Amino acid sequence: MPEISTEHLQKLIPQIYQKLGLHFDEKKIYFLRTRVAKRMAELRMDNAKDYVFMLSYADPQGTEMQALANLITTNETYMFREYDQLQAFANHCLPEVLTTKLARGDRTLRIWCAGCSSGEEAYTLAMIVQEVFPQAQSWDCSIVATDIDENMLKRVVTARYGARSVADVPDEYLKKYLVPSGDEWAVRQRTAALVKTEHLNLNDRMAMRKMRGFDFIFCRNVLIYFDDLSRKAVVEHFYNALNPGGYVFLGHSESIGRVTTVFRLKRFEKHLVYVKD
Ligand SMILES: C[S@@+](CC[C@H](N)C(=O)[O-])C[C@H]1O[C@@H](n2cnc3c(N)ncnc32)[C@H](O)[C@@H]1O
Repeated sequence: MPEISTEHLQKLIPQIYQKLGLHFDEKKIYFLRTRVAKRMAELRMDNAKDYVFMLSYADPQGTEMQALANLITTNETYMFREYDQLQAFANHCLPEVLTTKLARGDRTLRIWCAGCSSGEEAYTLAMIVQEVFPQAQSWDCSIVATDIDENMLKRVVTARYGARSVADVPDEYLKKYLVPSGDEWAVRQRTAALVKTEHLNLNDRMAMRKMRGFDFIFCRNVLIYFDDLSRKAVVEHFYNALNPGGYVFLGHSESIGRVTTVFRLKRFEKHLVYVKD
């Protein structure tokens, strides 16, 4: 593997932050070093100085930054992750939004799964929507699954998962929404059809402005890799992307109270969710 000095990494870190919003501190430098080395090996480059030059001055379309993004993102995910929080969605937030919409004669439901990784979360939401609201099929209902990592988006499209991904799926959901396929599980077509993928960098202001009209945004276990400044920009875009009465769900350990006050905090049992009034 090529050698990369800390000095060279220090030149890459601000560029990665500027393009992707991802914050690499001292604790994550070993991870970054191994991933950059892997990328340089793929490119048959052995001088880190050349790689820094390429990323800084010879990447006008952002192709190399995208290739690096595919390697430096953390994609850990599985179905029904943080199940208790999903119960707050299923038992309280979703029925509330659906009731308001029905009363208005609005038969659309739009959910954005931001930072969807390989799609387990988006398909979990699709299963819950179909379970709580069987009429979803006759509504204009979609779950938009976005991620910066192109390799992950390809996996969302295949909608096939190994044992680890489905280990936490409750039995009744497993039988109803997934079908065994070799040593994997495939999401049933009716459920998979609710999920659409889009490539999207949460740190790309122009792309974020196009995201509008959502009733729910799930962005769980993504903003932990951002710092306060880039996190603030993302959640302010989320505010604009939401319909009034819409909800944002973040991961358990993620709080945005420090970076913005635009949302009202609502508690369901032990779970906090953010609502746009
Ligand atoms: C740990 S996974 C979380 C997956 C899922 N939300 C969950 O909770 O199980 C984080 C995902 O965020 C994505 N991500 C990181 N930075 C991003 C950015 N700037 N724009 C879009 N997605 C990003 C990564 O590619 C990765 O797939």
